[in-house]
Amino acid sequence: MSSMIEVRQLKKDFGSLSVLNQISFDVKPGEVVAVIGPSGSGKSTMLRSLVHLEEVTGGSISICGKALVEDGRYASTANIRDITSRMGMVFQHFNLFPHLSVRDNLELAPRTLKRESVQQITAKSRELLSKVGLSDKADVYPSTLSGGQKQRVAIARAMMLSPDILLFDEPTSALDPELTGEVLRVIRQLAEENMTMMIVTHEMSFARDVADRVFFMDNGDIAESGTPEEIFGSPKLERTRAFLMRE
Ligand SMILES: Nc1ncnc2c1ncn2[C@@H]1O[C@H](COP(=O)(O)OP(=O)(O)OP(=O)(O)O)[C@@H](O)[C@H]1O
Ligand SMILES: [Mg+2]
Repeated sequence: MSSMIEVRQLKKDFGSLSVLNQISFDVKPGEVVAVIGPSGSGKSTMLRSLVHLEEVTGGSISICGKALVEDGRYASTANIRDITSRMGMVFQHFNLFPHLSVRDNLELAPRTLKRESVQQITAKSRELLSKVGLSDKADVYPSTLSGGQKQRVAIARAMMLSPDILLFDEPTSALDPELTGEVLRVIRQLAEENMTMMIVTHEMSFARDVADRVFFMDNGDIAESGTPEEIFGSPKLERTRAFLMRE
């Protein structure tokens, strides 16, 4: 398969406001793309469109070769569910279910989908909690966890359906600085395991370090893209330079 994510002429309007202005890009298997850019440039809207948390106004999105939306026309509800379940998403504010234990947060979606047996699901949640260093927290409620622990639970939960792609929207922006490291370590490990990822982040040194490619979004466009060396070392556009100076 050539592309994990293929986006063409993607357009999103909120009323008269154009938020994504016909953007196009590809993400290859195992690639890590960091998305940077000023507030309001459309980073979250772009990510949310990929998982159908936003209905786009026009253009096409294919995930693992399957069309989620083609020239503004969406696939059937069953196909949308199938396609979006190949992606896991992690949000800035964790979005854990407060009334469920850590284990149940992980197991709710797979138990509802019933693709695997209860035993398989239990084994998987145990394995993933161990992977993010939280084996001892399976039975507690999210309110008892630190922000960094909550975000690691959210990452484990996003992986429960064995996604081909992980999407992160500012995964460390709500964390105290001393807690960002433990979350970035988990993401870095996933990168080393060749997980395909798109990461919206304000952590420029992390983006530089972990990304294969960087997209600089501005005003609803991918204004500039390139390797971390290109974007951080010798950006072509004045507005990229100006943004990086501010960060
Ligand atoms: N549901 C909505 N209704 C109307 N406008 C929206 C909605 N969601 C986002 N917008 C607008 O779309 C634009 C892009 O928002 P988006 O959240 O994608 O930006 P962002 O790059 O993620 O910004 P930030 O860095 O602050 O998270 C903004 O002008 C925002 O106000
Ligand atoms: Mg955002």
